[in-house]
Amino acid sequence: MKFFIDTANLDEIREAQELGVLDGVTTNPSLMAKEGITGRDNILKHYVAICDIVDGDVSAEVISTDYDEIVKEGEQLAELHGQIVVKVPMIEDGVRALKHFSDNGIRTNCTLVFSAGQALLAAKAGATYVSPFIGRLDDISTDGLNLIAEIRHIYDNYGYETQILAASIRHTMHIINCAKIGADVMTGSLSSIKGLLKHPLTDSGLEKFLADYNKGN
Ligand code: G3P
Repeated sequence: MKFFIDTANLDEIREAQELGVLDGVTTNPSLMAKEGITGRDNILKHYVAICDIVDGDVSAEVISTDYDEIVKEGEQLAELHGQIVVKVPMIEDGVRALKHFSDNGIRTNCTLVFSAGQALLAAKAGATYVSPFIGRLDDISTDGLNLIAEIRHIYDNYGYETQILAASIRHTMHIINCAKIGADVMTGSLSSIKGLLKHPLTDSGLEKFLADYNKGN
């Protein structure tokens, strides 16, 4: 399972990279705004700064909603850096753009996916990644993990190569359950990733080992 971090915060990206388990980064306009990164030029520079920290894929989201504009914006984003994956919303013009990008060797991440039907369309259009938002589904009393399972089933039926990128991950159990279901990628916060480390028996066991070692020294 690939681990992406879902943030535009460079310190958190660096920390996850240094942990040695990071495979990429996802961002969106809200995450950029949260870090105070506004204005097209600053946003583009920030994408390059992220690419310089990590080795893997970095999703950069288009803000256009019209086919021609999505294509133009996506091509500019893809030219920024070889690690950029163009993030395209699941709308009609977005699906057309996914197909265009796929036909032209530009990697994509289809975002704002909330149903199996949308995920099927994204795969048909040749998306590299599809991003079902599981936390936001849970927020409205709908089982986000069930959507991941449905998409896994459908993609396996037909051998679609689109990678399932479980997004809107809210906690460590989302990550573990997505791994059980077979999501290809998860994107979450640094705290959700570091939450996987924690177990009280690890802490108490280590404390005892160190205390016993020190008895003889
Ligand atoms: O990757 C999608 C993600 O950024 C959405 O997460 O927490 O805003 O639902 P959230």
